Amino acid sequence: MAKFLVKNSGPLKGEVYISGSKNAVLPIMAATLLCEEKCEITDAPRLRDVDVMCNMLRRIGAEVIEDYDGNRLYIGTKVISDKEAPYALVSKMRASVLVMGPILARTGRVRMPLPGGCAIGARPIDLHLKGFAALGARIEEGKGYVEAVADKLQGCNLYLDFPSVGATENIIMAAVLAEGTSVIENVAQEPEIVDLANFLNKMGAKIKGAGTDTIKIEGVKKLNAVCHSVIPDRIETGTFMVAAAITRGNILLRNALPDHVKPIIAKLKECGVEIYDTFDGLIVNAENAKLVATDIKTLPYPGFPTDMQSIFMAFLTTIDGESNVHETVFENRFMHVAELERMGADIVTEDRRAIIKGGKPLKGTSVFATDLRAGAAMVLAGFVAEGETEVSEIYHIERGYERFIDKLKALGGSIERVEEKVKEV
Ligand code: EPZ
Repeated sequence: MAKFLVKNSGPLKGEVYISGSKNAVLPIMAATLLCEEKCEITDAPRLRDVDVMCNMLRRIGAEVIEDYDGNRLYIGTKVISDKEAPYALVSKMRASVLVMGPILARTGRVRMPLPGGCAIGARPIDLHLKGFAALGARIEEGKGYVEAVADKLQGCNLYLDFPSVGATENIIMAAVLAEGTSVIENVAQEPEIVDLANFLNKMGAKIKGAGTDTIKIEGVKKLNAVCHSVIPDRIETGTFMVAAAITRGNILLRNALPDHVKPIIAKLKECGVEIYDTFDGLIVNAENAKLVATDIKTLPYPGFPTDMQSIFMAFLTTIDGESNVHETVFENRFMHVAELERMGADIVTEDRRAIIKGGKPLKGTSVFATDLRAGAAMVLAGFVAEGETEVSEIYHIERGYERFIDKLKALGGSIERVEEKVKEV
């Protein structure tokens, strides 16, 4: 197993280029199953999760060509040869569930091993299934799998119990080829939903309202292959914004979309970080800043993103004073608290709330990446901690950050990837 060795690095300075969005490219890759010809996806990030999705699509019958040097993917599916996603791949990545909607829409039947939970929560798919049922599918649950069957999906009216990102994406992909019109309310409004809807509308779908709480879809008979450029990754953007803040550095983020990170900009400014939106990109300057503590509460978009909670908490541990963090989206997304405490942070948690008494110096030690974003948080904490920090379980991080080490090194970060020696027993 590999790990990161991170040393105290002083202020990170320079510029970084934001890659394409992991959480936009994955549903768009799944949506290519809705047409036979090959789609071209550009600005696709080179990530473990993208590799897993490529293999998933190949198992289903897609032809997938990866031009990683050009950050391009070419994906076409003449025939969906397997209507069941393989458990081995589903268990690796929850986003595998996103192939359900397209397979159901195209073939009338799909079987999915239940994806199971992960470190941050049970992560059920009841809302996905509720959407398929509303579109006329029969849902059968078996031992460890679920099946949806429909001769022909029919447009429906549905009010989602929770604005689930994945459920919104799956229901959109199932409804675009249904007979008639669907109106789905209380949907997720994330930029990744808008990017998926833009991709599908280019293909010939008729989707209105993406980015608002109500989406209207008029079913069409066929979709055609298109070329689409993926939006920049707003969570990678937030990660590098906090990298500047936590190290009291100064970073220019090229290819960042300020509109997609408004809550992060607002919170960093509340803390006293200077942020400028310039022609060249977003400048985040925390040099000589007199920083003050603040509170964050995670919410579905356009609220403060849950994916930024652990990363922002690492930053809050370096600011004198008391900060409060309230995680409302996932039921178990404080696994990083114990790791930050090992570094000397003073954090008290109760249920989904955490109180951070910031300002105590962090000390390097060995810690775990407990999920993708918590791993990034530990790396950033390592840049400001005394001495050296060993971050293990870094496969989480490599799932979702393209060329993470290269980008951090270019900013002056002291970070190396080493293979963990397996001790003989
Ligand atoms: C997407 O996950 C993202 N992943 C997550 O990013 C992100 O944290 C999450 O949205 C919230 O923004 C991708 O886009 C690939 P949800 P998703 O369905 O779709 C509950 C990262 O780090 N829920 O909006 O799985 C669920 O348990 C990852 O990049 C149900 O109860 O998130 C959770 O508590 C981590 N029933 C809440 O909704 C359902 O049927 C939000 O989940 C579906 C969800």
